[in-house]
Parts: sequence; structure tokens; C-alpha cells
Amino acid sequence: MKLVFATHNEYKLTEVKKILDPDVELLSLNDIACFDEIPETSSTLEGNASLKARYVYEKFGYNCFADDTGLEVEALNMEPGVFSARYAGEDKSAEANMQKLLLEMSKIKNRKARFRTVISLIINGEESFFEGIVNGSILEHKQGDMGFGYDPIFEPEGYSQSFAEMNMAEKNIISHRGRAMALLVEFLKKY
Ligand code: IMP
Repeated sequence: MKLVFATHNEYKLTEVKKILDPDVELLSLNDIACFDEIPETSSTLEGNASLKARYVYEKFGYNCFADDTGLEVEALNMEPGVFSARYAGEDKSAEANMQKLLLEMSKIKNRKARFRTVISLIINGEESFFEGIVNGSILEHKQGDMGFGYDPIFEPEGYSQSFAEMNMAEKNIISHRGRAMALLVEFLKKY
């Protein structure tokens, strides 16, 4: 089966390749020559995942899945949430996003946070959703240099390392996207 993962993020692509059954031929947006900036105009993770997957299915005709992730911080009323990528501005700088969050949290004792991923999968026009959550906390300083995005300041519950101090295999087992992908993999067994 051919399946497009609607992302330009090479790190995510490698992560997901390690989880998917090798029988699935995984294509990226680059592989199908889709260089469009797909609009993410919804106010929910579900909505944005769906927009991206539908865009590819309708314009390119491939079965496809897309993810949208938010970092939800309890003391900030679950923000930045759906705005996580643009938290510090439109240029989507991971460094600026982390600095802004660390500043917002500087006097806050409750550091509880979670990553939540929603995946929309469209097969032959039929859409299914999968959700993955990892609970954890926001560190006071960056730790580690692996991964991407907010990884250096997120410590998953039950661990004393940030995501950026874990290799991809370790992160995949417990991460939001890893968990949502595990549900998708289970679902694909039907096909
Ligand atoms: P997106 O939905 O994948 O574009 O992610 C939204 C925001 O969350 C972006 O700022 C990403 O960098 C961040 N993000 C998504 N997944 C992860 C992750 O696994 N670790 C750290 N940050 C992530």
C-alpha cells in the first residue's frame, strides 16, 4: 500500500518510518512534488490534521495521513496548544518558542504539560482519527540536543531526561506521535 505522510519535516518522517510496517510504501510531500504551504486555519488539532490530509487526498489523489500536535501547559490554560508552532511568531522558530515559554513559566510552580497529537487518515475517501498523549512537565532550562521543536524543555512523566536527551527509538515508544501512530498501525492491519 502507498501512503503519503503530509509533512515536510524530515525528522518526523524518519520517526514514522520506524513505526510503520515495511509493507507500507511511505511517501512524503516532497516525494509527490507537493511544495504547497497547506493552510492550517482550524482552531483545533483535529481540524488542522484533517485539512492537511484532505488537501493531499483531494489534490493529489493519494491515500494519506497528516498529524497536528500541540503542547498543552496546564498553568497556561492548555496553551500554546494548537498555536504551538507559531507561539513566538510566524517564522515558527523552535528556539524563540522555547524562550517565550520559559519566560512565561519563569514564576510558575505548576510545570505540568502534555503533548497531544491528532492524526487524520484518509483511505479511499474515508477519514479516521487517532490521538496520542504524553504527560510530562516543562523544564526550567533546555536539556539535550536531539529531536526538534520543544523537545529540550519537555520531560515525560516517569523519566529524568528531556525528549531531546532520548534517541528516536526511546522517544517513539512513549511520545504523543508514537502513541497515535501505534493506533494507526493497528487500524491499517484491516487493509
Ligand atoms: P506540528 O503540528 O507538528 O506542526 O507541531 C506543532 C508544534 O509542536 C511545532 O512547534 C512543533 O515543533 C512542536 N512539536 C510537534 N511535535 C513535537 C515533538 O515531538 N517534540 C517537540 N515539539 C514538537
